[in-house]
Amino acid sequence: MDGGVRGELSVFSDLDEAARALAERVVRAADDAVARSGRFTLAISGGKTPEPLFGLLGGPWAKRMPWTRTELFWVDERAVGPDDPESNYGGARASLLAEHPLRPEQVHRISGETPDPESAAKAYELELRSFFADTVPPVPFTFDLVLLGIGPDGHTASLFPGSPVLEERIAWVRAVPTPVVIPRVPRITLTLPAINAAHEAAFLVGGADKAPALRSILSNPDARETSLPAARVQPRDRLEWFVDRAAAGGMRPTR
Ligand code: 6PG
Repeated sequence: MDGGVRGELSVFSDLDEAARALAERVVRAADDAVARSGRFTLAISGGKTPEPLFGLLGGPWAKRMPWTRTELFWVDERAVGPDDPESNYGGARASLLAEHPLRPEQVHRISGETPDPESAAKAYELELRSFFADTVPPVPFTFDLVLLGIGPDGHTASLFPGSPVLEERIAWVRAVPTPVVIPRVPRITLTLPAINAAHEAAFLVGGADKAPALRSILSNPDARETSLPAARVQPRDRLEWFVDRAAAGGMRPTR
């Protein structure tokens, strides 16, 4: 898009159509990653928006995905147990992993049930550092693809506006105190250094309530000039937005 928009914006008539296009993108990214490195590392978000995407990739399209070569990670988690309806892991288990469960060693979940979220964050940090230890400093890569959503306040992952966690420069995972948004439980989240060390990131966004935040994120040429956390996502190779018409609010696609 003209005027310095960061990333490629695609607009679809509704969320199902956007989810289908993103599912195609995930399959392509997975095939490319497996061809390049023998594995596909995917980090997923929680919330309601990815449900149709997960339903597709875990259901009718599961055979198109190289699931046996996929390592699954979470962008963030709520401080609840895996069987709680608010658990991001639990949500994915019931959709993405429902029909084709991965081997336990392929599932790198964040322990929301650990009583101290700081300890859960440290444990996940160690797991990620050891998993990605084979990528070469000083430019370590993390995931092949990170799937993200946004809230109407412009948050992404569990990176909320004004949070000191946004300024983290070193740690890949941080605990986040109870935010003002629902569910009101502490979170454990990937930080910007972890997300921005990914090869690619793709946002899936639906609904008119997200249109103002989306417009502000996409039309700001300098991420640092906005307080919206999602505007600070800048992966190494490619950033894409899969958006429904309501969320686009009249913005024109860039492709
Ligand atoms: C979470 C998230 C969060 C989510 C957005 C959008 O755990 O809540 O990972 O960043 O992606 O809040 O959520 P909805 O899709 O429910 O609107």
